[in-house]
Amino acid sequence: MTMTERELRILLNDMSLEEKVGQMVQLPGQNYGSFAAVTGKAEKKEDGQPILDQAGSTLGIYGAEKLKKIQKAYMEKQPHHIPLMFMLDVIHGYETAFQCPLGMGASFDPELVKKCAEIAAKEAAAGGIHVTFSPMADLARDARWGRVMESTGEDPWLNGKMAAAMVEGFQGENRNQTGKVSSCVKHFAAYGAATAGLDYTNVELSEHTLREYYLKAYQEGIHAGCDMVMTSFNTWNGVPSTGNPWLMKEVLRKEMGFDGIVISDWGAVGEMVNHGFCEDRKEAAERALKAGVDIDMCSDCYADYLVDLVREGVIDEKEIDEAVYRILLLKNELGLFENPYKDADEQREKELFLCEGHRRTAREMVQKSAVLLKNEEDGKAGKLLPLNPAEKIAFIGPYIEGEDMRSSWVVTGSAKNSVSICQAAKEAFREDQICFAKGCTLLDNDTLLNGSEYHSDSWEEDNDRLLCEAIQTAKQADVVVLCLGEQNHQSGEATSRTHLTLPKIQRTLLSEISKVNPRIVTVIFSGRPLELSEVETHSKAMLEVWMPGTEGGHGIMDLLTGVCSPSGKLTMSFPYTVGQEPMSYSQFTSGRPCPKGSKAPFLTRYLDCSTAPLYPFGYGLSYTDFSISEPTLDRTEMQAGETIVASVTVANGGKRTGCEVVQLYIQDVAASCVRPVKELKGFRRVELAPGEAQRVTFSISEEMLRFHRGDGSFGSEPGKFRLWIGNSSEDGEAREFFLY
Ligand code: GLC
Repeated sequence: MTMTERELRILLNDMSLEEKVGQMVQLPGQNYGSFAAVTGKAEKKEDGQPILDQAGSTLGIYGAEKLKKIQKAYMEKQPHHIPLMFMLDVIHGYETAFQCPLGMGASFDPELVKKCAEIAAKEAAAGGIHVTFSPMADLARDARWGRVMESTGEDPWLNGKMAAAMVEGFQGENRNQTGKVSSCVKHFAAYGAATAGLDYTNVELSEHTLREYYLKAYQEGIHAGCDMVMTSFNTWNGVPSTGNPWLMKEVLRKEMGFDGIVISDWGAVGEMVNHGFCEDRKEAAERALKAGVDIDMCSDCYADYLVDLVREGVIDEKEIDEAVYRILLLKNELGLFENPYKDADEQREKELFLCEGHRRTAREMVQKSAVLLKNEEDGKAGKLLPLNPAEKIAFIGPYIEGEDMRSSWVVTGSAKNSVSICQAAKEAFREDQICFAKGCTLLDNDTLLNGSEYHSDSWEEDNDRLLCEAIQTAKQADVVVLCLGEQNHQSGEATSRTHLTLPKIQRTLLSEISKVNPRIVTVIFSGRPLELSEVETHSKAMLEVWMPGTEGGHGIMDLLTGVCSPSGKLTMSFPYTVGQEPMSYSQFTSGRPCPKGSKAPFLTRYLDCSTAPLYPFGYGLSYTDFSISEPTLDRTEMQAGETIVASVTVANGGKRTGCEVVQLYIQDVAASCVRPVKELKGFRRVELAPGEAQRVTFSISEEMLRFHRGDGSFGSEPGKFRLWIGNSSEDGEAREFFLY
């Protein structure tokens, strides 16, 4: 059974200062295991160093057999036999890799997102993991920032729903249960607003903007009960999060009610010296501790200086005790004092990893997260998708086989367990119906990636040959499915980009194929919004599949063949050009808004581009034809404590069953500070058979209209509001109502 609070206090009081500080140190897994996933600058300590027997946790190592051995050896040396905590980035799957989070968000299905997290937790727990560094709840509105891939997009309210779903999936009712792990909401705070989309830099936001938009999703993760919060690499208004007592104590703990463990991001304590916030690493240790950071991830500042800082009277040992108690408490809540191996179990690994049920859920997430961006009429046969089984189909492009469809944040498992497009096509069609060609390399030569560079000496001649083969293949077919996209390490950490187009070699392939066969379906793999105008020009149909993971081939083929209809909706705006970034549907208007198509002078506009996105937030097509009636309101006036019920009828006027995501947006027309032109306040996934119709209602309450007002208080303000109910952020007829 777990230890009582009294027993924990006795243990704490019996620990030496060195031992207490050890619990606040997290070392890279390299110090304990041969292989470890490296997601930061990892240094292996000399054998025999005391800290190796004192560190409270490690990250990046996994596997039941390995971790049980490490734990046994470690506890024999740890002075009070306190178990080591094993942490890992199980961002969207462990052995079974699910769709990346930006794709998961597009499913608009929090229940399914939760189910994916539950499965990830089961597999990770069997592999010996206690804590996952997920969900990432950063608001992501700048596609130049590669980490948008790990977010669920540009809307704070939707991100909050998704973050809560993941926390609940990972932790369940009690993380002590089998198959549960602790979750860690990150990166606190506002990492998504990094200047120019660059990692590890600065964020300049007003306190109002921080509170109104950027903190919301973290708050939902905390309300869902996350055990940990991770500090972000960035500064906010000149102060690194990792050294900001106002942000980490006043806001995070007092206002947002977080009482768990605060862990720094990898090396972030020491990096406060690079930021120019601390003279040296000793000062960094002091400032991080005083800001409330309980665990120093891999910077060694705590290991090197905390004991001295206490002995010198700079830090009160009581602050150390508070941090260490939280760490011991989590180990206790995980049941580690009772069973330091928790769920680590080789037999369960065999039973759970990539099992049929897990693959089925991964496949379902691909089906629901892919977004149909275009599906043009194609002569008498109707639209190009779903594919006509009577036709000959050429699958062309670097993503048909051999490329890892899992995101760069899958640190476990193997791409060889993934189902490729080729494999799925061979399962779905007769051999004589399909043909394949790689068409080109995925990357242009000499492409820089995070810590590596792609180069091939034979790149030129290889691509000449691949293009010729692809053109011949396209000529033989009735329709071409072109599988293009980012390489999986072109989004994720430290992958900021100033251009969002596909690699030139892929754009050449698309252009050349379109000359010999214009009936092109382009399937796009990406971890971020890309510039797709050129793809749009050359394609009759387009399907955005993100980084679909282990069951990518199956899920995509289900959609291409019409086993199911696409229902995903974008959770980030896709720009015409990167010059529009950062962007969001939920932006403010201006003093001189520019009516669509207006050429009048002195208005808010770009001279060379629309201010609107190519594809907006909430957008996604289906294989059937949905209609959504104009909204009716049961009343148009309300006061606090009352609600307005807004209703629409959704009808399936097409020939196929499909699922529509009906979205509710609200605008506060005039307030004590400017408000977004609209904000997502509700959504429903509605599945309808052909000819079926359903009434969908949304209850609007005064609470939904509250915001951080111009005077800093929080609440609603009387006045005029507008609402829309539609199939995207650009759809629906406005209706007005009043709050008194
Ligand atoms: C990385 C990432 C963070 C991750 C951590 C541990 O630098 O910023 O998201 O959880 O280090 O791998």
